[in-house]
Amino acid sequence: EKGGYEHFMLKEIHEQPKAVRDTIMPRIRDNDIVIDELNMSEEDIKNLKKIYIVACGSAYHTGMTGKYVIEDLARIPVEVDLASEFRYRNPILEKGTLTVIISQSGETADSLAALREAKKQGIKVLGIVNVVGSSIAREADNVMYTWAGPEIAVATTKAYSTQIAALYLLALRFAKVRGTITEERFDSLLQDLCKLPEQIQTILDKNVTQIQYIASKFVAVKDSFFIGRGVDYATALEGSLKLKEISYIHSEAYPAGELKHGPIALIEEDTLVTALLTQESLYKKTISNIVEVQSRGAFVLAVTNEGNEEAEKVSNMTIYIPTTDSHFTTSLAVIPLQLLSYYVSVGKGLDLDKPRNLAKSVTVE
Ligand code: M6R
Repeated sequence: EKGGYEHFMLKEIHEQPKAVRDTIMPRIRDNDIVIDELNMSEEDIKNLKKIYIVACGSAYHTGMTGKYVIEDLARIPVEVDLASEFRYRNPILEKGTLTVIISQSGETADSLAALREAKKQGIKVLGIVNVVGSSIAREADNVMYTWAGPEIAVATTKAYSTQIAALYLLALRFAKVRGTITEERFDSLLQDLCKLPEQIQTILDKNVTQIQYIASKFVAVKDSFFIGRGVDYATALEGSLKLKEISYIHSEAYPAGELKHGPIALIEEDTLVTALLTQESLYKKTISNIVEVQSRGAFVLAVTNEGNEEAEKVSNMTIYIPTTDSHFTTSLAVIPLQLLSYYVSVGKGLDLDKPRNLAKSVTVE
């Protein structure tokens, strides 16, 4: 059932081009995005005042990426919250708010409770769910399924990627209806969106040997940081969680600009820092953070867009991702991070499909 792969996680990593394609393509018709299951008229979309994205773990990280993309393209304020926080703090949910609950399993206890809280306050809930017929899918007002197929490994990969794709679809649909981007811009974004599956495939085909080599350097690492700005911070959160959950390496994600406000105190000889630089307008700022940690002895791995030689110059190692629109880089930058944590875990000989202390779906609070 592992289809010739050594672990479910590796199989699922390699299934991502298909999973993302299956999530995007049925919702594209005649060069437009059609999300029937959203059940929102153009009027409803224009009247949106706020979006609340509520989830746990990696699904919460997809919400963080979603926030950057939706706010920038559709100009709707987005608040992202952890379900375990949202449910207990009497959230302010006013008319014109859409609550989006994201969950692979559809059974996460806190996410389900958050859904019920929103419904209790009379707010519409959209579920972005992978498991068909799960509790969240059944109780949400509307469900947008991610077509990742069954995900077995505890560490999510393909479900995460499809959640990101679903959020891109929503962002583009909302932006088009609200007129916050031009027709031409919509067309070019749509083209880039459709290229993502093959670009993910390119990374899987081309970067594995390099990543295996880098992973061999990570095996003995004790502490690690992931840094990035803007949407790269959202990707950093996911890279860091992946590494800690399957390789047991202590890891933290920080917005690069926050380093100076505390965490830089922890940088010493050979601390591993993975820096994400996919936002051209922010290259210079993050490069200066790389220089700061380098001069304190950190070993820096940069993940950046093809052609960013400035980043390569100041880093110990660099992984390049294919070129896409700056809004979609999470989909590509996360792939090397997944592979990296996978190969570090393999190098440490760990039971990576079932890491210690973790369950695939967290059905208790
Ligand atoms: O099934 P869900 O998407 O609701 O699960 C949420 C989290 O428990 C999940 O993403 C968790 O963080 C994963 N182990 C991350 O790889």
